Amino acid sequence: MKVLLVTGGAGFIGSNFVHSQLKNTENKIINLDKLTYAGNPQNLATLANESRHVFVQGDIGDSVLLEKLLADHQPDAVVNFAAESHVDRSIHGPEDFIQTNVVGTFHLLEAIRAYWNQLNPQSQQSFRFLHISTDEVYGSLTTDAPAFSETNPYAPNSPYSASKAASDHLVRAYHHTYGLPTLTTNCSNNYGPFQFPEKLIPLLIMNALQGKALPIYGDGQNIRDWLYVEDHCSAIAAVLAKGSVGEVYNIGGNYEKTNLEIVHTVCAILDELVPDSPYRPHHKLITYVKDRPGHDRRYAIDPSKIAREIGWQPAETFESGIRKTIAWYLEHRGWVENISSGSYQNWIAKNYGAR
Ligand code: NAD
Ligand code: DAU
Repeated sequence: MKVLLVTGGAGFIGSNFVHSQLKNTENKIINLDKLTYAGNPQNLATLANESRHVFVQGDIGDSVLLEKLLADHQPDAVVNFAAESHVDRSIHGPEDFIQTNVVGTFHLLEAIRAYWNQLNPQSQQSFRFLHISTDEVYGSLTTDAPAFSETNPYAPNSPYSASKAASDHLVRAYHHTYGLPTLTTNCSNNYGPFQFPEKLIPLLIMNALQGKALPIYGDGQNIRDWLYVEDHCSAIAAVLAKGSVGEVYNIGGNYEKTNLEIVHTVCAILDELVPDSPYRPHHKLITYVKDRPGHDRRYAIDPSKIAREIGWQPAETFESGIRKTIAWYLEHRGWVENISSGSYQNWIAKNYGAR
């Protein structure tokens, strides 16, 4: 049994990771999350009686809290999911992104460095800090350019991706300068259960079920690579177990699609799964809206390093993963309703009102 300190474990990917760890391993999880608008205790509701899960509400920028948590729980590894994660929010207000993604990661690294320095040599050697990052740090690709490899230069284009790039550089420097045993993963677009409906796929599902417009930015030809969240979690576990210290691993689903193809797929599955919907065919709800400023045209991941060195492959295809995802949202209407609070409506008005 290992003790993992997971940050941001009440968010989308973090909560899926916590569930998969508790299901597939004997590990104990200390889950530190600030519970911003994106952190949802309901994502962890089924763990109320799980003794291997300890939830702590707090900020990765709180050095005093971090020192205490590290001393009390003596983790074998830290997995850092905590971040502001939505590109559109970073355009409306970048400050929180700098605060959490850059300054917060810096404080987290400092606390971990102090903790790691006083471990015995054997524990120092086996300790890992895994930083969860994104393919967006590499910038935008033209249609026929090769997919991002780990050696691509960084060229972030949004305040979000710039803040993630800065945090990746800090992680790299802490390994290079202090010898901290770090790992970094850069993953493509995730989808699946517990994703906050500000992101494309859950927004489409929620809006379609309510007969609302399905907003597509610009011409809908922007391309993303899509990965089912449980596959991202299995990749993270594999990198934690087998990754070489100081290395970076790109993670992707080998599924590049335009946003228009994604929305048509979601609509077709909803037509099939909700045959009595008054809004069928759902594709009639598709509405082109003003583009996102600085909208990256294409992301694509070359996942050959993680496949070759670690032996990881995704288990789901997009076809199987998207069906599971839509079925989950249909079965969890209560979760969806609780999310659709006043603050969510305020965000929708702010982001889509002027488009
Ligand atoms: P999310 O927004 O759903 O969750 C982020 C979580 O971090 C929330 O629970 C929030 O409360 C918590 N948090 C925010 N600020 C914090 C702070 N200062 N201290 C402690 N907790 C804080 O995000 P997500 O989609 O689950 O993404 C998780 C990580 O994965 C992020 O680092 C993101 O950059 C990265 N990532 C996301 C995707 C994707 O498609 N969603 C793809 C690649 C990488
Ligand atoms: O690539 C990994 C990244 O994927 C992560 O690092 C981010 O945390 C995550 O939010 C995601 O970023 P994107 O900007 O690609 O995801 P989003 O779901 O916001 O948008 C996906 C695409 O859909 C993008 O081209 C913008 C477009 N879009 C999005 C929304 C919310 C629309 O056309 N309409 C919308 O309403």
